[in-house]
Amino acid sequence: MRRPIIAGNWKMNKTSEEAILLSNGIKRDLFDIQNIEIVLCPPFTSLSDVRDVILDTNIILGAQNMHWQAEGAFTGEIAPGMLKHIGCKYVIIGHSERRIYFGETNETVEKKVRAALKENLSPILCVGEKLKERENGKTFDVVSEHVEKGLLGVGEKEILDVVIAYEPVWAIGTGKNATPDQAQEVHKFIRGILSDKYGKEISDNVRIQYGGSVNPDNIADLIKEKDIDGALVGGASIKEGSFVDLVKRASDIVKEK
Ligand code: PGA
Repeated sequence: MRRPIIAGNWKMNKTSEEAILLSNGIKRDLFDIQNIEIVLCPPFTSLSDVRDVILDTNIILGAQNMHWQAEGAFTGEIAPGMLKHIGCKYVIIGHSERRIYFGETNETVEKKVRAALKENLSPILCVGEKLKERENGKTFDVVSEHVEKGLLGVGEKEILDVVIAYEPVWAIGTGKNATPDQAQEVHKFIRGILSDKYGKEISDNVRIQYGGSVNPDNIADLIKEKDIDGALVGGASIKEGSFVDLVKRASDIVKEK
């Protein structure tokens, strides 16, 4: 059985002090959740503070981005080994905001996925179509390209360390989530791609999160779906109450799933 994973992507929000407050609240309120893997991805500047707060708890640390090189003259960048050393287990790769605003391509995303795995970090590989692409019937083309190119160098032994996040761009930060049916359709399609590449048994064990305007009111119906194994949450993850509610509701559903 796949253990669902809910990751809070704090994006460019929270000073260290605010991050400490938020992570303390989440730790206090979610200490007894075991059936969901909870991941917090604060900005780089708060990673070590949040790490100290969640040390020896059920909450895991993740980062939002990294470079693919191990070290060198790349001003302003962060290397995979630095994230590992600071205590990260996960790293978000290829988020649509990185693709749109910072010129990331399937090629750079693939390098990052491989570099993360080499460092024993689990990449959360983000894939998903833009509104125009959906309207033009290109959803499956775009998603398959993102998945296939992003996983080009990932072998059978490593794929289980990868989490895929299906995030339709039109649903991110817009308050307009994909319906559970729309999301399930694409999640099933992604699992099919994985099955073709790695075989059914392995693909049945890869976790695929949904992301895009997930909140406490829609998480239950999303996570009920067969191929939806959790969520990547932006806006609702930076308010303690909403993130806590969201994880608790998901946890209740997972007990029945
Ligand atoms: P959102 O962001 O929950 O604010 O839509 C999701 C994401 O970008 O990962």
